[in-house]
Amino acid sequence: MKILSVIGARPQFVKEAALQSELMKLDNVQEILVHTGQHYDKNMSEIFFNVLNINLPKYNLGITANLHGEMTGKMMIELEKIMIEEKPDKVLVYGDTNSTVAAALTANKLKIEIAHIEAGLRQKKPKYMPEETNRIVTDHISDLLFCPSERSIDNLKKEGILNGVYFTGDVMYDIFLKMKPGFDYSKVDKLNLREKDYIVMTLHRDFNVDEKEKLEKILSTMNKISKEIPVIYPMHPRTKKRINEFGLNKLLDSIFVTEPIDYLQLMGLTEHCFKVVTDSGGYQKESYFSGKQAVVLMPATSWIELVEKGINCLVEPEELYNAVFKENKPDIPRNIYGNGNAAELIVKKLTES
Ligand code: UD1
Repeated sequence: MKILSVIGARPQFVKEAALQSELMKLDNVQEILVHTGQHYDKNMSEIFFNVLNINLPKYNLGITANLHGEMTGKMMIELEKIMIEEKPDKVLVYGDTNSTVAAALTANKLKIEIAHIEAGLRQKKPKYMPEETNRIVTDHISDLLFCPSERSIDNLKKEGILNGVYFTGDVMYDIFLKMKPGFDYSKVDKLNLREKDYIVMTLHRDFNVDEKEKLEKILSTMNKISKEIPVIYPMHPRTKKRINEFGLNKLLDSIFVTEPIDYLQLMGLTEHCFKVVTDSGGYQKESYFSGKQAVVLMPATSWIELVEKGINCLVEPEELYNAVFKENKPDIPRNIYGNGNAAELIVKKLTES
């Protein structure tokens, strides 16, 4: 069986790491890996391949663009050529990025079966969230839908998607457990951080960073927080561009800003932190894997279970300060997203159908 996997953005490298190691155990399966190029800086892409031991892609399309339509369209043009050439039995797509939807649409037009990993997530708000559109479109044209949570199965049911749907748990949890012995604590030591006495922040969503007033509000609050407790901020290149463009650098004076860091370093920082502040889909869940609470700068989340259980909370910038210092210590149940064997379950289904 020939499987063509398409990745392109940071969280997809983590998910691919889980799948690839399972696929490699099978002699009768050949995986062709394609990187669209959506994330291209060394520390947004290459370092993930290094620290997660992912085989290099056979194809790297090197596609980047500021406009989403242009990016998605260019990816489709190149992916179509590769799919025609490689003739895969199935195309594997992950999550909700432009690379995901481009690969799914291309495969559908070539009548190739699609398997979607992390299917069924929904969050509805904000209305024009590109990831939500990407998820809906991909789910509706996928043949195999691998769900990380029970709720994602219900979401698909509500939209009439019943066939080919499986609960497997989350492949990101597989990788978290597998990589835990190798988490890198060097940043904790280097910055002289004390156990449970600092915050790790990530911020990159268009609705938080593309508008000056909103970004200013978030950064000035984080700056105020950083006078009371150290804040570490590995900065996404999108946010860096905006901060420079809007002249907001002064708001970072007491925040420890770093370049984007690799998976093992981020998890090392998270294991010892007090709390996480983020607008990342993957990271709000990885902080839960670490037993930490996340203050989530989003109007809604597709990982709503964590909010309902009182572990994470959704905030607007005005609520950020109080949410960070709010004392609540919920029980943090394990295994909301499966048992860490999601990739094994997925590969079993993938190869038997
Ligand atoms: C994308 C995903 C998002 C995911 C995030 C993870 C979509 C619609 N969104 O958002 O779901 O949470 O990845 O990080 O696909 N850039 C660089 N260097 C890079 C990568 C990006 O400079 O290595 C710049 C791009 O040129 C662009 C901006 O950052 O100007 C945004 O990148 P893009 O991939 O469009 O979206 P993300 O915000 O990263």
